[in-house]
Amino acid sequence: MKNYRPTWAEINLDALYHNLQIAQKNAPHKTIIPVIKANGYGHGAIKIMKFLIEKGVDYFSVSTLEEALELRKVNHNVHLLMMGPIQKKDLEVASKHDIEITLYDEEITHYVLSSKLPLICHVKMDTGMHRYGVMDETYICQVIEELQKKTNIKLKGIYTHFATADSDEVFYYRQVDRFYKLFTQLKVKPPVIHMSNSSSTLNYEKDFDFTTHVRYGISLYGLTLEPKNHNLKTVMKLKTRIATIKSLKKGECVGYGQTYCAKEDEIIGVLPIGYADGFLRRNKHGDVEIKKRRYQLVGNICMDACFVKIDDSIKVGNIVTLFGGLVTTDEVAKRNKTINYEIVTSISYRVTKEYVRRSS
Ligand SMILES: Cc1ncc(COP(=O)(O)O)c(C=O)c1O
Repeated sequence: MKNYRPTWAEINLDALYHNLQIAQKNAPHKTIIPVIKANGYGHGAIKIMKFLIEKGVDYFSVSTLEEALELRKVNHNVHLLMMGPIQKKDLEVASKHDIEITLYDEEITHYVLSSKLPLICHVKMDTGMHRYGVMDETYICQVIEELQKKTNIKLKGIYTHFATADSDEVFYYRQVDRFYKLFTQLKVKPPVIHMSNSSSTLNYEKDFDFTTHVRYGISLYGLTLEPKNHNLKTVMKLKTRIATIKSLKKGECVGYGQTYCAKEDEIIGVLPIGYADGFLRRNKHGDVEIKKRRYQLVGNICMDACFVKIDDSIKVGNIVTLFGGLVTTDEVAKRNKTINYEIVTSISYRVTKEYVRRSS
């Protein structure tokens, strides 16, 4: 989509590559599977995939079949793991396009065992997250043996997912122990054994020698929920430019509901970005960055616009960074009473992405 409006998300591919290297350093000898579901956590899955292929990555994971098929259209060779649930009627499509599917409960596992389709599968064990995954380890061992006998099925991997890798080490290790126990019981090990998400990759993966791959999501984009930053670099900066400037006399108010009134003669910049862009009303009263300084938003956020109290050093056309710079994505998440994952994935389709990188 061509961008006519000066509102955009700047995606720094050098920062993305830096974050990939941080993962590789912390998980030596493991294959990093970038998680690029939800349009690459809002950063643009196709662009991110193409860039990472250039950097030698050949395995990606997504949540839905739609996401997997969109990526398959772009590249026929990479391995694509679909982590979310699949409907029986869609197995044929997954089979046709070499999408690796997840066996996440007994019903789909049973169905796949009876299928004649060529399928590439990962069995997911629920070790405590209680979302997707099979809990009964004896059952898993049995079906793995059966799957390994099938000529139409390639049992490629087993995996699990952590609920508290960034918050509760005791529960984290309980999940690791359950998964490791399963691993030790398998007579023939599938080639791909994976359990770590970002926090687990950065904090623990180097201590495990039985896994082969990690699924690296949020920290690829430079974010984490941990107090420790791991030297990650933020990839997305949300930007706009001052569209017009209003001089308010003392007592005059701005926007819907007239909720902010000038306490003295004041200058207000109008920004062409609003809640329909994913910049939600909860950002009211938050700071933005202009010319390396903080300025405060005032009044209600509109669908397509919001207001910032400025001074006469600020002109129409000046760049405003709403998050990802001096005002961090974490600060905005806190202001919105949410987590950084939700901030970046909520930026809407209206906001064009501009990819920046050093040439090479
Ligand atoms: C199954 C699975 N694996 C890996 C990830 C990546 O997690 P993170 O973004 O915390 O690295 C996710 C993300 O939610 C997931 O659902």
